[in-house]
Amino acid sequence: MAGARRPLVAGNWKMNGFRSSVAELAKTIEGFDGALAGRIDLLVCPPATLIAEFAERARGSKVAIGAQDCHPKPSGAHTGDLSAEMLRDAGAAAVIVGHSERRADHGESNALVRAKAEAAWRAGLLAIVCVGETRAEREAGRTLAVVAEQLKGSVPDGANPANLVVAYEPVWAIGTGLTPTVSDVAEVHGVIRRELAARLGEAAAGTRVLYGGSVKPENARELLHAGDVDGALVGGASLKAEDFLKIAAAYR
Ligand code: PGA
Repeated sequence: MAGARRPLVAGNWKMNGFRSSVAELAKTIEGFDGALAGRIDLLVCPPATLIAEFAERARGSKVAIGAQDCHPKPSGAHTGDLSAEMLRDAGAAAVIVGHSERRADHGESNALVRAKAEAAWRAGLLAIVCVGETRAEREAGRTLAVVAEQLKGSVPDGANPANLVVAYEPVWAIGTGLTPTVSDVAEVHGVIRRELAARLGEAAAGTRVLYGGSVKPENARELLHAGDVDGALVGGASLKAEDFLKIAAAYR
């Protein structure tokens, strides 16, 4: 089954990077060689200020460019926000929605995340929907229930392998250097796959589920080959092309 899903390694640059960072993107593009590019998808999600420039640099390469968030509406009086259509116009092919930093910093609910995923589809973007438990939720033994609940509330009807990627990111593993065990990752991914199957039927078997949270060159091979893991959403280690490529090389 997993063999039918093409792995995706996605970099989430968060609030990092300047126009000079295009040099780092160039290194990623140059280092993503033919054999690996034939097997996996590589996506870089810079801050919105850099999407157009990155998309221009990546044009004609095997590296795609994505965004980190979008507004649910296509246009209008929403100062400071960006619509999925604008991101698409700037050259994005995908958008991350419901990242835990947005859920925490901006109080984003499952319903809002779902509306953002729908907006992504309306604009023709791949929606990468993030879910994951906090440390307190894990310690209370609520991980599987929390993840299932977020998934149910955040994934719109009509999801399919071409428009949806799910990213499982335990909040306590993000930016901390801590990671769940391989068997914990496999357990949660198994539950996500079952929940998707209940919702989407056969489409669930082809839908990619990424792991995210302190993925580094040193642990990528182990984490990315855990059961039902179809790639990674990488934060800190995606900022350096060398590290990002080493993570992708887990699929070599
Ligand atoms: P990290 O972030 O790799 O720096 O832990 C992952 C993410 O938040 O997507």
